[in-house]
Amino acid sequence: TKAQAWSALFSEPMSDLVKRYTSSVFFDKRLWQADIAGSLAHAEMLAAQAIIAPADYAAIQKGMAQITQEIEAGQFDWQLDLEDVHLNIEARLTALVGDAGKRLHTGRSRNDQVATDVRLWLRGEIDLIVELLQALQRALVEVAENNVEVILPGFTHLQVAQPVSFAHHLLAYVEMFERDAQRMLDVRKRVNVLPLGSAALAGTTYPLDRERVARTLGMEGVCQNSLDGVSDRDFAIEFSAAASLVMVHISRLSEELIIWMSQNFGFIKIADRFTTGSSIMPQKKNPDVPELARGKTGRVVGHLMGLITLMKGQPLAYNKDNQEDKEPLFDTVDTLKDTLRIFAEMVGGQINPHTGCKEGGITVNAAAMRAAAQKGYATATDLADYLVKKGLPFRDAHETVAHAVKLAAQKGVDLSELSLAELQAFNPSVADDVFAVLSLEGSLNARNTLGGTAPAQVRSQLQRHRARLG
Ligand code: ARG
Repeated sequence: TKAQAWSALFSEPMSDLVKRYTSSVFFDKRLWQADIAGSLAHAEMLAAQAIIAPADYAAIQKGMAQITQEIEAGQFDWQLDLEDVHLNIEARLTALVGDAGKRLHTGRSRNDQVATDVRLWLRGEIDLIVELLQALQRALVEVAENNVEVILPGFTHLQVAQPVSFAHHLLAYVEMFERDAQRMLDVRKRVNVLPLGSAALAGTTYPLDRERVARTLGMEGVCQNSLDGVSDRDFAIEFSAAASLVMVHISRLSEELIIWMSQNFGFIKIADRFTTGSSIMPQKKNPDVPELARGKTGRVVGHLMGLITLMKGQPLAYNKDNQEDKEPLFDTVDTLKDTLRIFAEMVGGQINPHTGCKEGGITVNAAAMRAAAQKGYATATDLADYLVKKGLPFRDAHETVAHAVKLAAQKGVDLSELSLAELQAFNPSVADDVFAVLSLEGSLNARNTLGGTAPAQVRSQLQRHRARLG
């Protein structure tokens, strides 16, 4: 086994158990690209500042190119003995280019190195996640565009409340996912700041040009305090919180999809490939994908708790505790990306390469939605508003309509199925025009204020989203 980077002082080797316990290479090797990019930017600056020779920088570049090839080809020999991604790459560099490799770590510590790597890696992941959030929004907008006139009952307390357009309902989720995208972009600003140059904790004796490194790496600034630079993980917690909110929105959508596709509702179907059968009940098609997404929300929120708790007791500056930031962060990113991908496809479908048409998105049963909206007196508020327009105070109108609902319930009919005479018995100002008000279309059209469910409003929202998302 190779000697450790700090072996001179130690009188006995690490036990295998301690090695396994303290090493991180088998999960942090996924930071390799960021690690190499950070090292090259650091080396370029060391050369520009005449801290290392131009020939050393050239050798480091050559060695890193070779290491990149080896890793990409799956031929890099990752060693547990070398603890983490940073020491593995540095050891290989030195094996390849000799002393130049040993000069790379001048003015640098793994403490500022790892903080830089995680930020660089997370920045790239955030960009992917924002794209996936936009793809999911596009899928929702597409289904909404085809369903502006489709009416379903809107619920409060899961009790029928007022009729809404199915498109309007879907666009509520578009709002949520757009806030998520904006939140991610806001977090990105604080991720994209450079710790490198903080060294172990106190800064360094070499004349580093930190701003140059930040420019090379496309970062928006440098950490202004070295102690904070190496020990800050706020950016990871913020990201994790933003990711948790994405999953909360996914989970609410999942819950609705599951309800809507149950036999008792029958509002929608999702494509078979997102469902599974039962090993005992031959008739079953279970909504496994939305259920799993709802379940995975717990795991992502759990990682947020893990990261917050990880930080709460740490004194300044770097502590090894911080190595525990990686697995929750990695798992959050993986879970989020897979979930967003699968939801965009499940909602919007996928282009069939043979026909060029989209297939396999949500199938809407407009008749079932309409039938459900016609039960439960969803237009009772409309009747109350109608009476208000005839001059009744709203509270009196509310009371009057409650009596009308009671009668309709006794007769087992909808409000619109009561006769004009029956309605007039509750209030003489009711006229023939009441039946337009009691229709589902009448109810929707009447809610024509900004943000309301009237088709005219929904169409203008759809236009706004289309212009924004392309
Ligand atoms: N693998 C470590 C981490 O993930 C790198 C930094 C280690 N620094 C140290 N002084 N032990 O945090």
